[in-house]
Amino acid sequence: MEEVLNELQEWLRIASVSADPRAVDDVRRAAEFTAGMFERAGLEGVRLIEGDGHPLVYGEWMHAPGKPTLLCYGHYDVQPAEPLELWRTPPFEPTVIGENLYARGAADDKGLAIILIWAVRRYLAEGRPLPVNVRFLFEGEEESGGDHVSQFLRAAGGEFACDAALICDTEMFAPELPTICVGLRGIVYAELHIETGETDLHSGVYGGGVPNALEVAARVVASLKGATGKVLIAGFEDGLIPPTEEERESWAALPFDEHEYQRGEAKVFTLHGEPEYSLFERLWARPTMEIHGIAGGFTGEGAKTVIPCEAVVKMSCRLGPGMDPNRVGSLLSQAVAEVTPAGVKSSLRILHGAPASVVDPKNPFVREAASAMTEVFGSKTVYTRSGGSIPIVGLIEEVLRVPSVMMGFGLPDDNLHAPNEKVYLPNVYRGIEAVARYFERLGGL
Ligand code: BES
Ligand code: ZN
Repeated sequence: MEEVLNELQEWLRIASVSADPRAVDDVRRAAEFTAGMFERAGLEGVRLIEGDGHPLVYGEWMHAPGKPTLLCYGHYDVQPAEPLELWRTPPFEPTVIGENLYARGAADDKGLAIILIWAVRRYLAEGRPLPVNVRFLFEGEEESGGDHVSQFLRAAGGEFACDAALICDTEMFAPELPTICVGLRGIVYAELHIETGETDLHSGVYGGGVPNALEVAARVVASLKGATGKVLIAGFEDGLIPPTEEERESWAALPFDEHEYQRGEAKVFTLHGEPEYSLFERLWARPTMEIHGIAGGFTGEGAKTVIPCEAVVKMSCRLGPGMDPNRVGSLLSQAVAEVTPAGVKSSLRILHGAPASVVDPKNPFVREAASAMTEVFGSKTVYTRSGGSIPIVGLIEEVLRVPSVMMGFGLPDDNLHAPNEKVYLPNVYRGIEAVARYFERLGGL
């Protein structure tokens, strides 16, 4: 346990923020560190795979003839740590407090991805053969929507024959409740630029006679979504596959207290969303649109009377199964163009996109994983979806035609993408145990 913790802390000290162009060297250092971890685990053929963007890290152990092959996926990049002032401990100085380890990337994904590495290391580093074959592929652009991994998989797919993918990048539904994630939403991320002219103007001298870029941005954005959260773009939901009745029933049976979710977990003053759908359907299966930031104009101390000529909006849509990210991107661009007033310039740039994915919980690879988790955690494994996105999952399905087994070891209060991200260390150790048992089960099939 001490060795796992030490190695994890060293990994977490590397600020591998893939979205930040100034962090390229750190991202590369994290890739090299990942390769070192693969080597220490006893994986063979360890190498960095270069391409557009940050490197992939590959390693394999393929000496279990006749046994299944797992593609073990993780990501070594992390979200930006800002706002820094809200962290109680520095984001890149991993700190143990009680049973938690605090750092950016502690749960998403270094602290969970390390589970896969150490499950292998426990065999190979002790001279024991693995019960299955493994191919490890870790990427460094998951959090920034880069497409190196998809370019690579599309080109090399054939050489990547495997029976299932194994991913530790999701969470447990509740503490002590072993969870397998069988569905993720897709995403389309966009940046909207509004321009009304060449220069900012005095709001008294020109107000009433010229357009205001921030106001146009607000109107455009507001026109796309209704007050309860329904996206108003015609055709947006085309192709959407709703959850089955069986799935809805299984969600309704999950141990859940909506008030506790609101106040304890989300810490919001009120919940929100389309009233005709249950909370789980809204979170896991419905498409959404969110504004991440609106930049422009004056927000400094005091008052300034200005009409801004430029505004930028960062926004994204989450997609349900069956929705095509390319189509959604074009619909979005079209909708923006339609509501932009004549003479105002607007442009929508799609930064990245990925489809949703659903996995059949009856698939034997999923079942065996659930049994392994039940053994280690001592209670029955539940199947849930998550509203988050892991772009490679859709790709694995499309290109490799195999299911992704998502064993979740994060917790709902891990503060993913937020200040004070942490991982609950006992879950890391139990995760290693569960993955090792999973290998044994697959090897015995
Ligand atoms: N690990 C998360 C996704 C996740 C979180 C799944 C919790 C299940 C439960 C992943 O690293 C992530 O945050 N992905 C991004 C992808 C995007 C930037 C393409 C996301 O969902 O915002
Ligand atoms: Zn992640």
